[in-house]
Amino acid sequence: MCGIIGYKGKRNASDILLSGLKRLEYRGYDSWGITAQNGEELATIKRTGKLSDFDGKLPSSHMGIGHTRWATHGGVTERNAHPHLSCDGAIAIAHNGIIENYQELRDELSAKGHVFKSDTDSEVIAHLIEEYAKEKSFKEAVRKALQQLKGSYALVAIRRNGSEIIGARKESPLVIGIGDGEWFLASDVPAFIDYTKDVVFLGDEEMAVLDRGLEIVDIGTGSPIRRPIEKVSWSAEQASKGEFEHYMMKEISEQNETMRQVLAHSDSEIMGIAKRINEAFGVFFVACGSSYHAALTASYVFSKIAKKHINVVYASEFPYYEDFLTDRTLVIPISQSGETADVMQAVKVAKSKGAKVLAITNVMGSSLMRAAHWSVMMNAGPEICVLSTKSYTSQVALLTMLAYASAGRLAEARAHIEKSVAEIERLTSAETKIKLVELASKLREKENIYVIGRGTNYPTALEAALKIKEVSYIHAEGFPGGELKHGTIALIEEGTPCIVIAPGDETHNEIISNAMEIKSRGGYIIGLSPENNEIFDFHIPIPTFGEANALLNIIPIQILSYYLAVLRGCDPDKPKNLAKSVTVK
Ligand code: G6P
Repeated sequence: MCGIIGYKGKRNASDILLSGLKRLEYRGYDSWGITAQNGEELATIKRTGKLSDFDGKLPSSHMGIGHTRWATHGGVTERNAHPHLSCDGAIAIAHNGIIENYQELRDELSAKGHVFKSDTDSEVIAHLIEEYAKEKSFKEAVRKALQQLKGSYALVAIRRNGSEIIGARKESPLVIGIGDGEWFLASDVPAFIDYTKDVVFLGDEEMAVLDRGLEIVDIGTGSPIRRPIEKVSWSAEQASKGEFEHYMMKEISEQNETMRQVLAHSDSEIMGIAKRINEAFGVFFVACGSSYHAALTASYVFSKIAKKHINVVYASEFPYYEDFLTDRTLVIPISQSGETADVMQAVKVAKSKGAKVLAITNVMGSSLMRAAHWSVMMNAGPEICVLSTKSYTSQVALLTMLAYASAGRLAEARAHIEKSVAEIERLTSAETKIKLVELASKLREKENIYVIGRGTNYPTALEAALKIKEVSYIHAEGFPGGELKHGTIALIEEGTPCIVIAPGDETHNEIISNAMEIKSRGGYIIGLSPENNEIFDFHIPIPTFGEANALLNIIPIQILSYYLAVLRGCDPDKPKNLAKSVTVK
């Protein structure tokens, strides 16, 4: 977690750093800081809270670094916010990752007289560089310091009077943006997409020195490395809020377009992946959070349409399955960011057993993409809101296409998803939103909300509950329709809201019976179904298009969650305690 940024060029660095950090806030937003270099001076400003709350003045300069934090070591204080400086104040660093041996390094450095100002693991890096810089050039001092670190890092560093800005990475992401006489370093492309689309993806354990040109070296050996300049397809508009007040609603509303982008995958690409799935002896989907729910949804489609069993495992639990892995196993990690630490760990385990890895991710050049044997892009465009919305439906749609392709029925999946596009336009229209604001105002004071579904819509129920709770802080739980009565039904009382996902498929009659069990105990039933039903207290009409219906059913719940958050005064884009890209295990 945490977002880092660096800039060197003709513009005012502080402005670029501040706007870039705002785009990286999804990675952490409990505190932030900027160091701007003006020759003799390194001017540092640090604050707790969100960047948008800041209305002060920033130092002007042409080079600087910045950081937005999700606290791991050390509380949320200005002191612990980055950048961190060396004792003499001549070196500034911003770090994303975890330094596992920081205590040991801190003790050694303290014995040499270094005085620490924060409780963070990161501060040791500034002091370590300072120590090496006594005898070496800045570049060599940084490289030597990095060799001492155990754990993960993406780092940006500058020095007083220096003309260079240094970036380095191991396991945490860092990408270089190349503008016209200006350079950017950032955890993610949206931080600088307004200025350039030309990027260089820094490899693992590589260090970049940006001075008059770009130099990349291997951290271990110091030998030069050549990396190509690539063009990113994301646009600046995709990374901005446009007419919307929050990224969350913008991203929910553009799901018609992201579905079209999923459909843009060629038949040959999809069929090629489906062939690998069909040929594997044992297939695992591994993922976290919403990506896990998308994987679980797809496992039902694979079972029904392709008659293929897929093991779906939380990435953090996957290492405990290692004894099932062979060189004939296909492991499919699914991750929007392509940086989730648990997913990366699962890939490591899979590869150590000789299994093949086929990644599904949304971020070009991500760690996951590079670690996998093959990869396929989700094509959802940048997702800035911490909550997964459009990336979730892209995953469901892509995996649904793969399941149908695996049975030689890809055209059917395409037809279902094409029909869904028009329906998404209706579900995200002003008319539907008004209806969902009305529902949100009925539910805003509730303490608990339950969601039930069966088959492909059991994972939809899990995802719906996750959306509601993570953004509105109302407790919500999702269940398979048949399970609620095995315990949790004890909590249903007069007026308890229960969302019932009742598509026009083989699950319909049974889920309606489950809804009746809840209704007869006083539950308030919100039905998502093609037709109204007398037991529904509130009906949201949604058609059923084959096994692709799960991707439509989540959309009204995404919108409901958004309005619940807004009505309860919560920030939909940055829920408390969360980060979008979880790079710690
Ligand atoms: C975090 C985010 C979730 C996301 C999960 C997995 O917890 O808050 O929204 O679903 O990570 O992220 P990934 O990038 O691996 O899909």
